[in-house]
Amino acid sequence: MKGSELKNAISRRRFVSGVPSLAATVAAAGAVVSRAGTAGVITAGDIHRYLKSLDGGWVRWEKTVDTFKAGSPETAVKGIAVAWMPYNHALGRAQELGCNLFVTHEPTYYNHRDDDPEIFRFPAVKAKREFIEKNGLVIIRCHDVWDQYPKIGIPTGWGTLLELGQPIDGAGYYYVYDGKGRSSGALARQIASRTAGFAQPGVQLIGPDDKPVRRIALGTGAITPMFHFIEKLAADMAICVDDDFTYWRDGAYAIDAGFPVVVVNHPVAEEYSMKLLADQLSRQYPQLPVHHIPESCMYRLVRGA
Ligand SMILES: [Fe+2]
Repeated sequence: MKGSELKNAISRRRFVSGVPSLAATVAAAGAVVSRAGTAGVITAGDIHRYLKSLDGGWVRWEKTVDTFKAGSPETAVKGIAVAWMPYNHALGRAQELGCNLFVTHEPTYYNHRDDDPEIFRFPAVKAKREFIEKNGLVIIRCHDVWDQYPKIGIPTGWGTLLELGQPIDGAGYYYVYDGKGRSSGALARQIASRTAGFAQPGVQLIGPDDKPVRRIALGTGAITPMFHFIEKLAADMAICVDDDFTYWRDGAYAIDAGFPVVVVNHPVAEEYSMKLLADQLSRQYPQLPVHHIPESCMYRLVRGA
């Protein structure tokens, strides 16, 4: 998500008035969307409508990226693969698993709106599109709905993974958890112990490691505006994501002000919630195979000799 989109996301949040309970959301979804179309065939369009029905009022449907990225809504679904990013290897795995529908959180062609035809000047991108088309893969993005879905959506799924307890404040994209007066260093170690399962065995801690923390704030994936956390949510520690955090600005302030910030890799903050999305689809469509394709930290740390 780019800076301008981030600003839009933040201003959009101001218009979101309240988030319904999970039970209410799921009940509403079940009432509106049937589990299968006619003759027991479930189409990609059926599943897209179901995902859309999870919106509790926070998605701007005229601008959403939660659309078809490949294939047609009429396609009969044989199996559903769910993953954070449609990397080539993840699409290949979906194909191996017999899944012709790929539900992704992030873009397919390296652009938030997947609307830049110039990207196909790269042979690797053209080859990706050819693979998708040749294998008849349907790709649906589930981003805007899942970014604010209660309890098991991206931000609160992340908080659950980190074992921070229930949120004590926040809504929409941002939540605050009780640090219980523990030191920023101890909280950073707790976070690292949880991210280790996603190939990120250590996290970055900027600022002090001995600050007692009462209010620790986190955001949705790459929407982790540190200054917003400080000013609007009275955070005294932040958990940010590297695709959003800016070191020369946010990091420098954190050092000068003695404000502790943990920075993690973007997929690590979202991966657990993608597993929860796969579980949700599996409950909704028990007659279809649903596979979560695990993904993890995008980089490796390489030690010098
Ligand atoms: Fe994200």
